Amino acid sequence: MATLATIVDGLKLPNPFVIGSGPPGTNMNVINRAFREGWGAVIAKTISLDASKVINVTPRYGKLKAADGKEVIGWENIELISDRSIDIWIEEFKKIKDAHPEGILIASIMEEFNKDAWTELVQRCEAAGVDSFELNFSCPHGMPERKMGGAMGQDPDILGEVSSWVMAAATKPVWAKMTPNITHIEEPTRAALAAGCQGVSAINTIRSVIGVNLETLRPEPSVEGYTTPGGYSSKAVKPIALRMCMEISQLIKSEFPGRTLSGLGGVESGEDAAEFILLGADTVQVCTGVMKFGYGSVKPMCDQLLAFMERHGFETLADFKGASLPYFTTHTELVRMQKERKAAAEAQKMVKADGEWSGDDFVAQSDALARG
Ligand SMILES: Cc1cc2nc3c(=O)[nH]c(=O)nc-3n(C[C@H](O)[C@H](O)[C@H](O)COP(=O)(O)O)c2cc1C
Repeated sequence: MATLATIVDGLKLPNPFVIGSGPPGTNMNVINRAFREGWGAVIAKTISLDASKVINVTPRYGKLKAADGKEVIGWENIELISDRSIDIWIEEFKKIKDAHPEGILIASIMEEFNKDAWTELVQRCEAAGVDSFELNFSCPHGMPERKMGGAMGQDPDILGEVSSWVMAAATKPVWAKMTPNITHIEEPTRAALAAGCQGVSAINTIRSVIGVNLETLRPEPSVEGYTTPGGYSSKAVKPIALRMCMEISQLIKSEFPGRTLSGLGGVESGEDAAEFILLGADTVQVCTGVMKFGYGSVKPMCDQLLAFMERHGFETLADFKGASLPYFTTHTELVRMQKERKAAAEAQKMVKADGEWSGDDFVAQSDALARG
């Protein structure tokens, strides 16, 4: 019997499906709901020490729809991290762990470039009983204006230094969440893993402009007639997320064996999850997918992933983790292999032609010649 249960960085998950940081983990009520529905782990909405600096606007979402005008395939948000106070969050973390002692609760944290602030945040969350941390080095809007989030994630030196502050304070596993808004995601990943983080998560949202309203001529989402570039998520980002996860997995394999990857970006089904795991992910996060399909969507996702495993005879996630990684190579190598295959096919054709010529046809030809 195939199983989805897995142990990642010592955390025991009933399945690899993790709620990604964002609206689906915005308070105690929804996090408890996620555990009741069977999610493998929940990452809460990102928190910081001083929520009074976090001021959201409305509207803060923009959607890209498929040609049917209904299906949402791309989602932009200009939402900031949590605007709820740290005191409230600490209380709620305690209550969530009381209600779901087995549930894996992950605190997503973000602070300014200040060692004491990061240390305090880690210590207060640990005292409240969280099981592990995700460091938000990747929010692409709003927070970078305060040199936080994506601004830190784009600078491997700063990211490495902050990660080492966290590693000095944390006794629980730490994942660093990577920004895709960078040319080589291996660079910040290397900095986080070299600083001792047990794993990385990838990707956060892609900096984007969802569209321009052709009546008002204003870009969207329009706040008092203006906007600011936001973060793009949902189905449309999956190919980019898969590429970046592949690059991270190759780096982990060659330089940091044993470290882990939590893959995300556009996951909506068990098949999507299988693709991330085939490219080396240990767990798979879902954020926008939960906003589109609800907390109950974990059940069909588990069923679909199990069906995939049974179809291939895989009993555990480890049986196929990273199994597709060996099939990436350079374009030059693709050209070489194709040339080689074509040459082999051509040679085969000639052998076959010779073979045909020296068979019955050859006899018939000789007879014809003999007949004159
Ligand atoms: C509305 C919204 C709010 C988000 N807020 C956070 C956040 O507070 N912290 C964080 O690390 N990521 C945040 N994210 C990013 C997601 O966790 C995730 O990295 C990204 O959306 C890609 O995954 P998805 O396609 O499954 O949503 C947010 C995403 C959305 C759509």
